[in-house]
Amino acid sequence: MSGAASPGPVERWFGDRFGGRPEGVWRAPGRANLIGEHTDYNQGWVLPFALDLGVTVAAARCGDGMLAIRSRQAPGAPASLPLAALAPGAVTGWAAYPAGVAWALREAGHPLAGGASLAVDSDLPQGAGLSSSAALECGAALALDGLHGLDLPRPQLATLAQHAENDFVGVPSGIMDQSASLLGRAGHALLLDCRSGETSDVPLDPAAAGLELIIIDTGARHALGDGRYAERRSECERAAALLGVSSLREVSSPAAAAGLADPVLRRRARHVITENRRVEETVALLTGADLAGVGPVLCASHASLRDDFEVSWPQADVAVGAAMGAGALGARMMGGGFGGSVLALAPAGRRAVSAAITAEFARRGWTPPASIQAVPSAGALRIG
Ligand code: GLA
Repeated sequence: MSGAASPGPVERWFGDRFGGRPEGVWRAPGRANLIGEHTDYNQGWVLPFALDLGVTVAAARCGDGMLAIRSRQAPGAPASLPLAALAPGAVTGWAAYPAGVAWALREAGHPLAGGASLAVDSDLPQGAGLSSSAALECGAALALDGLHGLDLPRPQLATLAQHAENDFVGVPSGIMDQSASLLGRAGHALLLDCRSGETSDVPLDPAAAGLELIIIDTGARHALGDGRYAERRSECERAAALLGVSSLREVSSPAAAAGLADPVLRRRARHVITENRRVEETVALLTGADLAGVGPVLCASHASLRDDFEVSWPQADVAVGAAMGAGALGARMMGGGFGGSVLALAPAGRRAVSAAITAEFARRGWTPPASIQAVPSAGALRIG
């Protein structure tokens, strides 16, 4: 896995494409989620961490009122339009994420006078469930904030980035990914209470425990915009309304879900209620320096996401089974579901886990999965 990119290449690429030098270079990481899946938009708790893979943005103000955005991963003409013309639907595809952030800043009373040119580079696989979109939003948010001297608090930038994704791009995601990218701390996971916005850093240092966290990109691709994520959200809202609460976060006993007549809503609610408890349990284990003890909690989360929330996919179930068969301490699907990555906790250097998953995939004729070591890393920062 690569470390933080040096600013050199993207600065040079900015010069080739836009002319001149960028005024700064910012980097925002992708995230893994240790536990707390589909709890963020239910006002519950999440425990993600920032990765050492991410999006780098070299940027400068340009003075002509235009927003121009180029990506090294999307060769071709820049997305370019007057800042004043930014409106939902005005930009589509990957460029909608950074353009949406400029729009959200403008809507929040920060007009970004003069405009900006952004050159974007990424070493995050897309669609792998590692929040490449949130990293792109957060890199753009930090760059625009820095260029225009706004100095907005990070939680506010996270909220603006989520607003961009929800209301400019049109994807109804929660606040977890942007928070992890902007607020992560090396050697820690971020405990976020999605109702109050309160955060705390929870020590997460697999190497110190003789363990490693492995991300297995199953190769199956997901799209949060395809409707199934939104469907889960509305099922949770319906379940909460039927239980007489403003969100499922307010329900602490899994037994309460039994009161729901609709079996689908009952399962959805049970997942959210038990997943919130699993976050709590995981924080207690980590605080007691028992990372190995988290293994069974990860497996319970996977079973709940597979059976109650029904967002797992065949490659994830096979990868989790193979990982456990090869000596992993725990494993689960990660992110929104229906594709992306699995997270496995294993003894350090245990190649057997990745090898067993690769062998199982080969036996089924599936494309070999990619494995990377997940190192809890620092959140977004200015690097040049
Ligand atoms: C996606 C969303 C997050 C969160 C997860 C599921 O990653 O972007 O907000 O809801 O799915 O936990």
